[in-house]
Amino acid sequence: MSEYDIQRIDAAEARPLRRALLHPAQPLAAVDYAADHDPASLHLGAFKDGVLVGVASTHPQPMPGSHSGAGAWRIRDVAVEHGHRGRGVGAWLLERCIAHASNQHGSVVWCTARVGAYGFFARMGFARSGPPIEDPEEGPQYTLYADVPPLERSWKIS
Ligand SMILES: CC(C)(COP(=O)(O)OP(=O)(O)OC[C@H]1O[C@@H](n2cnc3c(N)ncnc32)[C@H](O)[C@@H]1OP(=O)(O)O)[C@@H](O)C(=O)NCCC(=O)NCCS
Repeated sequence: MSEYDIQRIDAAEARPLRRALLHPAQPLAAVDYAADHDPASLHLGAFKDGVLVGVASTHPQPMPGSHSGAGAWRIRDVAVEHGHRGRGVGAWLLERCIAHASNQHGSVVWCTARVGAYGFFARMGFARSGPPIEDPEEGPQYTLYADVPPLERSWKIS
């Protein structure tokens, strides 16, 4: 993993990769989320030789159907370029998002993910909340969540 560098980026930097890897049929404006403009949000980029090859974002948002309230952080659009998958980049991005939520006193992280990405999140300790929900554009989606480990709360993202 030392060949990759993870840095905080602006949401605008994340959008082209979000769109290319997760929402290719959508215009760029469709991945300009209202929460991107929340000052508490975090956007991360994974760089290889100065080129952005992975992204992930997180922001505070209550988890649907739960009472997690202000302690809930949504993880959004974790995506790694095809040629860089299977090298731990996605895991590192996700861990850094969880660390940020922890540092902001988050208690649970959650996301919606395609059925095909479930194995990744399960490997990272996420559990399913109910059966998959059919999204007319994205196909079946799981709501997944994980408790934020108290130990993580000592982490600090610069
Ligand atoms: C899901 C995704 C982000 C994973 O990124 P990645 O960099 O390849 O993942 P990692 O290499 O860090 O994998 C971490 C672990 O998860 C496992 N894993 C990764 N993708 C998996 C999948 N689709 N199914 C099952 N396990 C998976 C890896 O084998 C690895 O396990 P290990 O620690 O036992 O070796 C990447 O495949 C991707 O961009 N997919 C398309 C976008 C997407 O669907 N994102 C999720 C919705 S938000």
